[in-house]
Amino acid sequence: MPVSDSKIDISPPGGVKDSVKYLFSPFRFKDLTLKNRIVLPALASFLIEDDGSITEKTVNHYRLRAAGGPAMVITEACAVSQEGIVSNHQARIYDDRFIKGLSKIARAIKSEGAIPAIQIHHAGRQTSAKIIKQKPLSPSPLRCPTIRGDVEPLTIEGIQILVEKFGDAGVRAMEAGFELIEIHGAHGYLINQFFSRFSNIREDEYGGNTGGRARFAREVVLEIRRRLGAEFPLSFKISAQEFVSDGLTVEESIRILKILVNAGIDIVQVSAGNDATPEWICQPSFMKKGCLVGSAERIRKALDLPVMTVGRINDPLMANKIIETGKADLVCIGRGLMADPKMPKKAMQGRFDDIRTCIACNTCMESIFRKGRVECLVNPALGREKELEIRLVKTPKKVMVIGGGPGGLNAAWVATRRGHDVQLFERQPQLGGQLKLGSVSNFKRELLNMIRFQKRQLERFKVQCHLDHEVTAEIIKQVNPDVVVLATGSVPLVPSVEGIESEIVVSIHSILNSNRPLPKRTTIIGGGAAGCEIALHLSEYGSPVAIVETLPKIGGNLETMTKKILIKKLKENNVRIITESKLLKVEDNGVVIIDKNKNETFIKTQRVVIAVGYQSDNRLYDQIKSFGYEIHRIGDCLEARSAKEAIYEGMVLGCSI
Ligand SMILES: Cc1cc2nc3c(=O)[nH]c(=O)nc-3n(C[C@H](O)[C@H](O)[C@H](O)COP(=O)(O)OP(=O)(O)OC[C@H]3O[C@@H](n4cnc5c(N)ncnc54)[C@H](O)[C@@H]3O)c2cc1C
Ligand SMILES: Cc1cc2nc3c(=O)[nH]c(=O)nc-3n(C[C@H](O)[C@H](O)[C@H](O)COP(=O)(O)O)c2cc1C
Ligand code: SF4
Repeated sequence: MPVSDSKIDISPPGGVKDSVKYLFSPFRFKDLTLKNRIVLPALASFLIEDDGSITEKTVNHYRLRAAGGPAMVITEACAVSQEGIVSNHQARIYDDRFIKGLSKIARAIKSEGAIPAIQIHHAGRQTSAKIIKQKPLSPSPLRCPTIRGDVEPLTIEGIQILVEKFGDAGVRAMEAGFELIEIHGAHGYLINQFFSRFSNIREDEYGGNTGGRARFAREVVLEIRRRLGAEFPLSFKISAQEFVSDGLTVEESIRILKILVNAGIDIVQVSAGNDATPEWICQPSFMKKGCLVGSAERIRKALDLPVMTVGRINDPLMANKIIETGKADLVCIGRGLMADPKMPKKAMQGRFDDIRTCIACNTCMESIFRKGRVECLVNPALGREKELEIRLVKTPKKVMVIGGGPGGLNAAWVATRRGHDVQLFERQPQLGGQLKLGSVSNFKRELLNMIRFQKRQLERFKVQCHLDHEVTAEIIKQVNPDVVVLATGSVPLVPSVEGIESEIVVSIHSILNSNRPLPKRTTIIGGGAAGCEIALHLSEYGSPVAIVETLPKIGGNLETMTKKILIKKLKENNVRIITESKLLKVEDNGVVIIDKNKNETFIKTQRVVIAVGYQSDNRLYDQIKSFGYEIHRIGDCLEARSAKEAIYEGMVLGCSI
């Protein structure tokens, strides 16, 4: 039986701020001593070649995460079998040839003072035949609710082969130098599929009651124990709640975990969600911070087993409280350490304002599946740390940055840090650009953290800032810089239809700039990200709202999980959604819209909000392009997109001037 030492008072190292002293107290279980309570949970980076080989980039990625100060780093899920992969860029451990690459990761983590741990995994039905060139394996003839392809239910013999493969993977993990193995039993992947009545309707010994559904996991644990011995530290990640009918609940998860403790697990990581409820796996900004801590605490109380909690814990003070109040033994900070790998070290020194906080936008999750590699909205250097290394310049230049939105701010502090003489001009009395408006809605308040971080970097590197300063061509001539950075953003598009000048037509900006928008019957023209967001905002302040969208669906290119919850909330707030229709004209007391069949409809309304997109604000560029300065345009000023591009382009430019 594993013994939790969490109740033993071990003083943190000297120099740790009082406000995080519990977070930085050591923790022991089995033969492992963790220097603090922060764990980097498994996070697919997909910085891996499509034949599964580990490159210098992969190793550097892990080295950097470890160097930031967490006590333990768990690698991304490594497939135990070829048909268990979810992407060609997934890490693998199903053959001895992968040991060499994985051992480089283990060594890099260890050399930075963290415990190297590895997660082993099989996707089961949650992958596609296109990737694995065969039907995905599953416990029962039930398709994955998101991928929806045909599946191949596992025979008893097939199950036994997989149990052995998990054992082989365990041996390879140990040979590669990892000091803890985590079995991925969560997130709707194969082991989770066996646990849950939602995905397991087998009538043999691997289905039926809790014991039957836990049998596969139990055999996997026993096999790893048989191969690695009693002492090797073994973790199990579980989705303790699936939030679907017939899915796992905390009560049943406790029963399952009791079986697995008897089989030999030493620690559990308590997560949530499955292939039908991904919003519980990677909680978007709508979800409360630390929303899974309660389930971890219940499991900790019910079992004599150390517990790791995970899920939207992006703040070291909050993490400290979780440890202080005994809700968990260890805190996993995943996206938080992608956004800022140095968060543990900064927190330990009390440099809280210097932490680049994760805003739960899930761009990282979206990018691994859409782009095949991880990217972060707030941390453009993630996965390209070498390319975007900040190096001092030999010949400092006089740089004039125009626009204090996310693009201009990033360009300004990065260029200053490199040694350039930078002046930033912003016509508004405050910095932040359109992102300030973007952070007005309740569920997006955390965007303010991004602005706070950028402002802090300006202070730290002493960037000369001129607020309330509208730059004209004349001013540029007076300043006479070597380089002009135009980060002037974008302006809203306005459809040219009859009545558009009417008093009832207002911009998104005027709504978001007002403290409490008056409750009025409102029609929003445009159901993209901004239109949906403003619809939710107004409906929350009591306005009856209708959205008119030309496309068949609303939500545009919003990240999948955010879109799912946002649309659910719009429906809960009775927002009327009219698709495949566009604005024809605005009248005194309403709008006329026309659908794809040319049917016209009048909608009575007291307020019309135009949310049909943005176009680059190039006015200044057009005036100065012939002056002969070195001019760069970044962010929305180049093409109206999102803060992600603006921040990235600001960083790239700041690193290259
Ligand atoms: C309601 C809303 C919600 C949004 N939500 C999100 C989101 O959730 N995620 C996301 O990624 N993106 C979001 N966006 C988009 C995002 O805000 C923009 O893409 C991003 O701010 C562009 O950054 P930028 O630095 O290029 O320009 P901006 O943020 O537009 O900043 C340009 C700045 O330049 C200043 N300026 C212009 N001309 C001059 C001049 N001549 N002299 C001095 N200053 C000047 C402006 O005052 C402004 O502050 C949202 C936008 C809106 C409107
Ligand atoms: C890009 C990305 C990749 C992930 N990959 C894995 C994975 O390989 N294995 C796993 O168990 N969880 C994975 N997760 C889930 C995280 O480990 C964690 O449970 C989740 O992000 C919530 O914690 P956080 O809010 O601290 O990020 C991933 C999450 C993200 C955002
Ligand atoms: S992309 Fe968004 S959710 Fe992911 S780590 Fe960065 S800020 Fe957090």
